[in-house]
This record gives sequence, C-alpha cells and structure tokens, in this order.
Amino acid sequence: MNDSMIRDISLAEEGLQRIRWVGKFMPALNALKRDFINNQALKGKTIVMSIHLEAKTAYLALTLQSAGADVIVTGSNPLSTQDPIAAGLVNQGITVYAWHGCTDEEYTMFLNKALDHMPHIIIDDGGDLVHLLHSNRTDAKKNLIGGSEETTTGIYRLKALEKENKLAFPMIAVNDSYCKYLFDNRYGTGQSVWDGVIRSTNLTVTGKTVVVAGYGWCGKGVSMRAKGLGAHVIVTEVDPIKAIEAVFDGFEVMPMKKAARYGDIFLTVTGDIDIITEKHFMEMKDGAICANAGHFDCEVSRKDLERISDSHYEARKNIEAYILLNGNTIYLMAEGRLVNLAAGDGHPVEIMDLSFAMQALAVSYLCEHEKELRPQLYLLPRELDEKVAEIKLKSMGYEIDTLSDKQKEYLGLD
Ligand code: NAI
Repeated sequence: MNDSMIRDISLAEEGLQRIRWVGKFMPALNALKRDFINNQALKGKTIVMSIHLEAKTAYLALTLQSAGADVIVTGSNPLSTQDPIAAGLVNQGITVYAWHGCTDEEYTMFLNKALDHMPHIIIDDGGDLVHLLHSNRTDAKKNLIGGSEETTTGIYRLKALEKENKLAFPMIAVNDSYCKYLFDNRYGTGQSVWDGVIRSTNLTVTGKTVVVAGYGWCGKGVSMRAKGLGAHVIVTEVDPIKAIEAVFDGFEVMPMKKAARYGDIFLTVTGDIDIITEKHFMEMKDGAICANAGHFDCEVSRKDLERISDSHYEARKNIEAYILLNGNTIYLMAEGRLVNLAAGDGHPVEIMDLSFAMQALAVSYLCEHEKELRPQLYLLPRELDEKVAEIKLKSMGYEIDTLSDKQKEYLGLD
C-alpha cells in the first residue's frame, strides 16, 4: 500500500465490485479510455482529484490512470466518501487520502496531503483545492498546468477569483458544458435526490407537498421528478425569470416563509446560504423533513435547529429528529449535507458517464493546450460536447439526421 490514508483496505473487493458495475454502464468514458490506453496521453502527469469518492468517480480515476497518469484522490465532502471504494482504488495503485465521516481537520489534512504530490492537473468539485492553492498551498502550484471544476458552487468561487484578477492558473468550467449541466444537474440530481430521500425514509412522495428551494438546473430536476412521483410541488426562488419558468412548468411559487407552513418535505438546491432558518422551522408542520442537495451544508441551518430544540436523536440512519421547544419534531437528513451523496450513491451511472467523459476530455485539453492557456476560466469547445453526445446516442441505439450542404448554406453554416 502506498502512503494512502483510508479506513480499511480489507474492503477493497467490495469496492472493486461496485466499480466494475459502473464501468459496464459508461460507454462514453469507455470510448475515451480505449484511446487513453492506446496513446498514453497522460504519461508522467500527476493528477490530484478532490471528488465525491464513490464508484463513478473512482472509475474516472482509473480511466486517467490507464492513460499513464499518477492519480491521487481525496474527498470533496466528509460524508460522500465510501470506504470500500477508497480501498478498491488503493488496491489498484491509486493513492487515496479519505475516509467516510472525517472531521473538518482531517478533511483539510487530506487535501494538503494530496497537494504534497505537486500536481500537474487538478480536478476539483466545489473549489476546495483551488482555494488552498490560492491561500496556504501556493507552493503546490509549482508544476501546475491547470484544472477543471465539476460543480456550480466551484464555478461561483472561480468567477469571484477571476473578477478580482486573482485566478492564478487556467481552470476549465466542466460544469458549464452542455453534456454536464443539462443532464447531471437536472436529471442526475432529479433522480438521485429522490433515491436518497426514499431509501432513507421508506416513505411515499405521492400525496405530499414538496418545497424545492431554487429553480436552477438542479431544482428543475428535483421538482420534475417530485411531480412524477405524485407530489404537490411548491418552488421558492429569488430570480423572477426562474420563478416564472417554474409557474409555466406547472408549479406553485411563493416565498419560503409562506411555503414553510405547507411543506412535508423541503429540498434546498440554491448554492446559497440560510435558505431554511429558525423563522422557517418555527412555521413548519410537526414531522416536516428537511434535506439539502446544494454543494455546501449551509442551506438548511443545523445551528438554528440545534438552538431552538429541546433535544435531538437519530430517528433512522441519516435522519436526525429535532424536538423543537414548541413541541414539534423536525427531521434533518444527512446533517444538511448533499442528501443524494450522503444518503445515497449519487447520480445514476449513465448520467455521470457524460459528466466524466467531459472531465477526461478537460484533462486532455489542458495537456494539449498547455502553452496557449492563460490564468482564466475556460469553457470546453462545443465540438467536445458534440463528440460525447454522439458516442452516448450511438451507445443507446439512437441515430440522428445530418445537415446537407444545401441546408448548411441555407442556415449560413460552414
Ligand atoms: P443554478 O445556478 O442553476 O441554480 C440555483 C438557483 O437557486 C438559481 O435559480 C437561483 O436564483 C436560486 N437561488 C439562489 N438563492 C436563492 C434563495 N435565497 N432562495 C431561493 N432560490 C435561490 O445552480 P445549480 O446547477 O442548480 O446548482 C445548485 C447547487 O447544487 C450548487 O451548490 C451546486 O454546486 C450543487 N449541485 C449539487 C449536485 C448534487 O449532486 N447534489 C449536482 C450538481 C450541482
């Protein structure tokens, strides 16, 4: 075993079994993997990944390793790391610093340990690696070509750095590629949030009032699937355009202060802070369930819940019951962390196939364009989105039409 820090290497076979399963359902990433194995495009490159450490991200790590890269993996959230997967990766020669339920101090130590490897490329999910590389670990930029960012919250943080002219190396906004957000944020979050809630609660969604905070890409998916499961859906928003979109999609829209009275299940997906706080908990029905799927655990205020509670206890795995001073019980799922990852297995495999094909292409793109790239935030070219979409369509047995020369001329295309 390399100098990895994981919970238990004897879990490796269980982890490898899960990783083998996802590998069967990732045709787009597998197509890239075949090219990677042939051309060894990442030979000599060290890649540090801070990601939700579960089977699909593990398969991405192994794909990059198959291209010749030395891959170092750490988590991007203390509760989303799966110990068998960490063990499986170590068994395959990947260095891992992560265990499920690590403390905040351990989490930061793991990120630092990963950066000690002086990466050429980083893959970030939420911006914690980038943050360290701009604060305490500027030394670890020594060999850095650049990196890619997986999620919306990480992009917000990168845009803030770019605006202040502080972004120190090129970053690719993988989240903003069509083959990422249109599928992962919308359909991925839409399915996996309900998977996490349903398997943890063993309750129905049909007949319940579900309040979804935020009608961005994730919120649209969560609302659409809640409706499909038979719920009455209320959306809360701050953007009037998103709000009117929600109305036209057939949902009720109102402020959280009012929605708090009606909801049976609350789901926050805003990327913002303080969406559900004391004033909302005090309005809620006895037995209301709160969960978050935004990147950080600051959307549903656990601090407020603790302050206004008499006592709390574990009601079921991943569900804490808070007995409020007014006598009502409010349930909080997964400590207010990403419910689909902390209380489930994350997005469906076929969807992450698209996201991680884009991640693999981002890594190749950084290496191929090292000389031209500047310290700024980049989008991957549309051709790469089209390439991934084409592989995926083909693997699913779909064909589409192509433009004739006459049509191209008519449309003014080359
Ligand atoms: P988005 O930017 O498309 O949508 C966010 C929406 O929240 C916007 O419409 C915005 O107007 C709204 N909003 C902001 N503050 C609000 C407030 N105080 N009250 C009500 N609405 C508010 O972002 P996206 O892609 O939907 O991502 C949302 C969050 O989910 C981010 O933190 C992102 O990193 C995370 N994410 C989580 C995933 C998961 O697996 N759970 C997957 C992908 C993204």
